[in-house]
Amino acid sequence: TTLYAVIGDPVIQSKSPLMMNAAFRESGINGAYAAFHITPDKLEGFVTGVRAMGIRGVNVTIPHKLAVMELLDDIHPDAKAIGAVNTIVNDNGRLVGYNTDGIGYVRSLKEEAEPRLSGKKIVVLGAGGASRGIIYALLRENPREVVIANRTADKAYDLAKDLGGVEAGVAGIPYDALKDACSDADIVINTTSVGMFPHPGETPIPGAWLKPGAVASDLIYNPLKTEFLRQAEERGCRIHGGLGMFIYQGAYAFEYWTGVPAPVEVMKETVLATL
Ligand code: ATR
Repeated sequence: TTLYAVIGDPVIQSKSPLMMNAAFRESGINGAYAAFHITPDKLEGFVTGVRAMGIRGVNVTIPHKLAVMELLDDIHPDAKAIGAVNTIVNDNGRLVGYNTDGIGYVRSLKEEAEPRLSGKKIVVLGAGGASRGIIYALLRENPREVVIANRTADKAYDLAKDLGGVEAGVAGIPYDALKDACSDADIVINTTSVGMFPHPGETPIPGAWLKPGAVASDLIYNPLKTEFLRQAEERGCRIHGGLGMFIYQGAYAFEYWTGVPAPVEVMKETVLATL
């Protein structure tokens, strides 16, 4: 049996063990995936344990995505640029860090809502860690422009600059320019925590700000349909929830570890059954 793990603090809420064990079963792979509650003071010990036990793959969640980087042998350039690792591959004792969150999100967006991102105008609400990974991956798809708006505006400007600025097709805008920016956007993505359980009635912006037919996307998957998505749907937008990002970040990790295409439908059904 090949061993796999997810670590976090807390980790009890993680749906990864259920999803990944279902994926191994479906693919006929003899793997076992377990969750470990690792506090920051135990992180180094855990990584030593991965080497000692020959654990083949690890998913890394909050709060370890940054701190784990210095304990690995190599970091993929994309993960380095994003500044976070969520997936570790153990190649015969050599631990390599990857980030599958951003590419997982983009794969989900393309599969589930909008296959063609090239030429599109995209508005991103929020400038935190999740926003950074997603925009990094979106820029690979040659959108016309990516516009970032954040409550703390300086964080939007800093993030845009850090990801290459106007030359790379990304710019920060003031929060009060958001309504205008949304009115002709093809895709509007909420990466903030506004609307997440236990405050499901809140929305970062009114859905009526969006262009009918545009895509409204939310990283939140609890609830599955946020108030933002509900209002956008009422407006006549296509909506895209956050569950797919979770499924596809896991699908990429599965594929890096096993070299086998991930059974995405089974993974999705398995997680959906618990929500
Ligand atoms: P994550 O890793 O999920 O991105 P984060 O790095 O803590 O988490 O970022 C949270 C994001 O949600 C930030 O953009 C934050 O805005 P600020 O930078 O101004 O704090 C945004 N956010 C959280 N609560 C918000 C609220 N009530 N209204 C608007 N934005 C909010």
